[in-house]
Amino acid sequence: MSSAITGQWQEAMHLDDLWEGEMEGVEIDGKKVLLVNIDGEVRAYKNRCPHQAWALDEGDFDGQTITCVRHMWTFDALSGKGTNPDNCELITYPCRVEEDGTILVDVR
Ligand code: FES
Repeated sequence: MSSAITGQWQEAMHLDDLWEGEMEGVEIDGKKVLLVNIDGEVRAYKNRCPHQAWALDEGDFDGQTITCVRHMWTFDALSGKGTNPDNCELITYPCRVEEDGTILVDVR
């Protein structure tokens, strides 16, 4: 019954391994995913810069802003929206944290 819905969520990692102000690249179902922890709020994005597809986990995260190391484009980590330039956006995956700290992501 609900398996079609719950089956979309896949375990990404545990919150203990993604502290506030950290980002981490993981692979889920063959897809490269960037997880970021912004003051306890976890977001999941496609680990691919919208500019020239560089892996974002090779860049920098200061707790608020993700910076792509390739050409220094910047993104708001909470919304995924580009801040410089501001006409781009990261691809967002649905993400949630279970009570036990397990981070689940839906990459479908
Ligand atoms: S590939 Fe990310 S800024 Fe160019």
